[in-house]
Amino acid sequence: MARILITNGTIVSPSGRYASDVFIDGETIQAIFQPGQAASLGIVADKVIDATGKYVIPGGVDVHTHMELPMGPIEATDTFETGSNAAAWGGITTIVDMALQRKGENIQDGLAAWHQKAAGNCSIDYAFHQIMGDIHEQSLKDMTYLVEHEGVTSFKLFMAYPDTYYSDDGQILRAMQEASNNGAVIMMHAENGMAIDVLVQQHLARGETDPVFHSISRPSLLEGEATHRAIVLSQVAGNVPLYIVHMSASEALNEVARAQHEGLNVFAETCPQYLYLTLEEHLSQPDFEGAKFVCSPPIRSRHDHHHHQSDLWKGLRMNELAVVSTDHCPFCFKDQKTLGRNDFSKIPNGLPGVEHRMELIYQGVVLGELSLERWVETCCTTPARMFGMYPKKGIIAPGADADIVVWDPHQKTTIGINGKHHMNTDYSAFEGTVIDGKVDTVLSRGMVVVENDTFTGRKGHGKYVKRDLCQYLH
Ligand code: URP
Ligand code: ZN
Ligand code: ZN
Repeated sequence: MARILITNGTIVSPSGRYASDVFIDGETIQAIFQPGQAASLGIVADKVIDATGKYVIPGGVDVHTHMELPMGPIEATDTFETGSNAAAWGGITTIVDMALQRKGENIQDGLAAWHQKAAGNCSIDYAFHQIMGDIHEQSLKDMTYLVEHEGVTSFKLFMAYPDTYYSDDGQILRAMQEASNNGAVIMMHAENGMAIDVLVQQHLARGETDPVFHSISRPSLLEGEATHRAIVLSQVAGNVPLYIVHMSASEALNEVARAQHEGLNVFAETCPQYLYLTLEEHLSQPDFEGAKFVCSPPIRSRHDHHHHQSDLWKGLRMNELAVVSTDHCPFCFKDQKTLGRNDFSKIPNGLPGVEHRMELIYQGVVLGELSLERWVETCCTTPARMFGMYPKKGIIAPGADADIVVWDPHQKTTIGINGKHHMNTDYSAFEGTVIDGKVDTVLSRGMVVVENDTFTGRKGHGKYVKRDLCQYLH
């Protein structure tokens, strides 16, 4: 493989920014040189990438995607091929997807099925979390097996969705106790699903069937309550590492901040949709268009008793929220979202997003919500550390995988105008949004996968990453 020199750029890491050149030999970063030093040392590269006026950052790590996720009679529309290509376009070089165990299924079979979907199809590296949708003695044994032998060191449980993936408090406690022995991270979908189901039925009985009622039936208080309960259970299990996924609500953030203040190993992520979209402007769109924005937890109102979005941005600045992921779970509007035209509870839950996280969170830098360093930390470095992939992933340093994005702050990106994006959906949740900044060049383990607005990656280049335990504990 080639020797590549990235010159004249500004490297950005969580701890600062500095002008330096990056020298890549094959799949890994060989050295960081002072500007001009490579020439004086007689270093010869096969390819030089001029990053004058640009940022050189670690490839993005998106630790929450759902490629090909079955949901009732349908499936999330991105395959590992289309989804990993779209991710690469957006400056993501590693995804961690959620392998699925449904009720009555065996965990090891669920993981094997996910390997089968992904193997040979990805253009960037990939790893797996395991969804535990049926917790019993055998699944607990399998959990430890996955940690010790399969490089799967994090497990997602659901306090929502009583009809499908739901675990009761006893099951959650048992999984947490197992995790406190094997070192795994418990990832929690924290919404009180039992109470939500009562509200859903009451709205439907009143004829309130529009997409906006999806959000109204899932109040932020019930996200806060479930987050509190998950934290208490993690304490009872011995301060087991707990990571709250896709946080949307101030009440939940307050619970996490309080737990962190007590020194507990409690962490959380949010997603771009919760930072930008609102019930008023998006979920309430007429002619069923609001269905495009249905996900769980839901997009919140800007007139709630809390200002969720400004609290989430503050949480990101304060490291109460450690990570931004996408929860990429794409469905088409036509034929899929429309399954819930007369009943919001039948709208498949999830949004496309893997292509746009780096851009949308960079816009937070432009708007003054985050520093440049914090952008890199929340989108690249901490996700790699949280889920045991550091320092191969998430940092520009000698010995790390040459997963690199050259970012041009002087260009603009217009998101998905008229559906022109690379995700396999017929709409974008951020259609027409103009972002300051643009993905310029993307390298995945030394291979240029995006350059000059062209995809140059290769199906099958992406490898499975066997993960270590969490490297982010207090
Ligand atoms: O609505 C969502 N978030 N769909 C994906 C599944 C999940 O709960 O993460
Ligand atoms: Zn979830
Ligand atoms: Zn998800």
